[in-house]
Amino acid sequence: MIDPFGRHVTYLRVSVTDRCDFRCVYCMPEHMDFLPRAELLTLEELERLCRAFMRKGVERIRLTGGEPLVRRDILRLISRLGAEVGRGLRELTMTTNGSQLARFAKDLRAAGLHRVNVSLDTRDADKFRSITRRGDLSKVLSGIDAAQSVGLEIKINMVALKDVNEEEIESMLEWAHGRGMGLTLIETMPLGEIDGDRVGQYLPLSIVRARLARRYTLEESEFRTGGPARYARVAETGGRLGFITPLTHNFCESCNRVRLTCTGMLYMCLGQSDSADLRSPLRLSQDDALLDRAIDAAIARKPRGHDFIIDRRHKTPALARPMSVTGG
Ligand code: 5AD
Ligand code: SF4
Repeated sequence: MIDPFGRHVTYLRVSVTDRCDFRCVYCMPEHMDFLPRAELLTLEELERLCRAFMRKGVERIRLTGGEPLVRRDILRLISRLGAEVGRGLRELTMTTNGSQLARFAKDLRAAGLHRVNVSLDTRDADKFRSITRRGDLSKVLSGIDAAQSVGLEIKINMVALKDVNEEEIESMLEWAHGRGMGLTLIETMPLGEIDGDRVGQYLPLSIVRARLARRYTLEESEFRTGGPARYARVAETGGRLGFITPLTHNFCESCNRVRLTCTGMLYMCLGQSDSADLRSPLRLSQDDALLDRAIDAAIARKPRGHDFIIDRRHKTPALARPMSVTGG
């Protein structure tokens, strides 16, 4: 699949549910309205969509949510897709909040997953509870232990929040790198209605990077995933540090990805509202011809880039759809 700007689409993110057992302050309001269950694609339908994308050249699939591990029977889908790793797929990964990881780690590894990104914004139990509004830090930490003990590679994603966890970035870096895990810092993105004040949460990573550069040697790294992160190697720890800066940088020219929601909508760009309905062609016929055509038409509409802006006066999100719908 080649889009109008010559970019090869080889990466698919699949949000398998919009539900989550946390309510992170930058992601959701306290009382979140989730999609009615009847709107969801079945696991079989999700698999059929993934296979259609694989036939068209997708080499890497990341399962996200919401929280993917709260979807019932999700292991069934993971095993089916995991069986394609090394054949149609080069890589199957997952982004998780880690709350159920202790229970699932062994089965995930057996199903063919080899890497997980765990979202962890703080290692202070009280702060963790207040950021996630209900999460239990000890469960996530034991999930990380379990995942490492079965040989799952882990990367930590930390959303940088002004005045909340900015003092903790160095200790998170030391901890993650000390355990052989990469750390990626993420700037808050104006997605979805939340209860709080987005502008107040926003911490530009340019500032964080400058601060870190006083203590550490950040070596430019050529490592790229085709995603929005830029990476550095930290000489002192030997670990990898990523920066996701959607608001201050433009990462769109090398974008290789599209995002599928749990209702079968395809978003061609994280920062635009245009989407394509793949559920209708999926359900209209068991033959994939219609579906294939709908995918081609969607890729032909992939925009050049996003235009996120933080509206400082109105404090409204740039996009109404929260991250839990397209999974980041
Ligand atoms: N801005 C930045 N990051 C977000 N995440 C969820 N919502 C937002 C937002 N509005 C993060 C999660 C997770 C990753 C998939 O995206 O914490 O690490
Ligand atoms: Fe759940 Fe992730 Fe959103 Fe937090 S950021 S509420 S863990 S989907």
